[in-house]
Amino acid sequence: MTILIEQPALELQVEGNNVHAEETNELVLEGGFPLPKDGYMAPEINSFGHSFREYDAESERQKGVEEFYRLQHINQTYDFVKRMREEYGKLDKAEMGIWECCELLNELVDESDPDLDEPQIQHLLQSAETIRKDYPNEDWLHLTALIHDLGKILALPSFGELPQWAVVGDTFPLGCAFDESNVHHKYFKDNPDYKCPAYSTKNGIYTEGCGLDNIVMSWGHDDYMYMVAKANGTTLPSAGLFIIRYHSFYPLHKEGAYTHFMNEEDVENLKWLKIFNKSKVLVDVEKVKPYYVSLIEKYFPAKVRW
Ligand SMILES: [Fe+2]
Ligand SMILES: [Fe+2]
Repeated sequence: MTILIEQPALELQVEGNNVHAEETNELVLEGGFPLPKDGYMAPEINSFGHSFREYDAESERQKGVEEFYRLQHINQTYDFVKRMREEYGKLDKAEMGIWECCELLNELVDESDPDLDEPQIQHLLQSAETIRKDYPNEDWLHLTALIHDLGKILALPSFGELPQWAVVGDTFPLGCAFDESNVHHKYFKDNPDYKCPAYSTKNGIYTEGCGLDNIVMSWGHDDYMYMVAKANGTTLPSAGLFIIRYHSFYPLHKEGAYTHFMNEEDVENLKWLKIFNKSKVLVDVEKVKPYYVSLIEKYFPAKVRW
């Protein structure tokens, strides 16, 4: 792998404070509240087909999850996402193959990551092998499952070491009203966008049926991997890209919110997203690797810009 730059000069701005992540390694919210870059627990945040979506249930993890969503809801603004998309749209962080990235992600050891009760590569391959059993002929779906979480490399130092709230968790649109079905909705009241009249109506800056492609989504591993796949000219079908981009968009595919923005293609693609699932069977990486390497060669260039 070629890491092209060690650390992107990433500016994370919170309400007018420029905070250089590479200098401080922590973000300071308005009022001087520090956000440790990796100190807070955000367990079981991203709940893609996993077993922990009982947000109201009593559990010791609940406080951590709630704190995670408080930070996410305050900091994910329309302007923040625009800056992130611009920065990561450069694709100047690294050049490496898709399998290489699977192995790289495997090095990511972060106790607060929801999928890390197992090595990341197990999560990727389990997702892929599960869907392969159900849909043996849809090879694009197998590869989509394999790569759906690769964007989590955003948490690695070479990729900006973004805080948890900018990498994982349920996603939602910016530029329009925050739907009530968003988990821990109350914390949006402290989001600067909440008071912006243009963003406060049901459609906000968008029109009904405009297509999810035209919606600015909160920033995280989903949107990043979508950008990488698209910009590198993957031949995965649009349903594959849709799954990658919206797999954490639970308000849509679990709660049925924001569906008024969908166009016909979105409606078709959403069917595929809904069949995505996960199993806990242990996968023999070396045994299945050749199959996935062949799919990577079919759908991606050998070297991918990240
Ligand atoms: Fe994910
Ligand atoms: Fe996942």
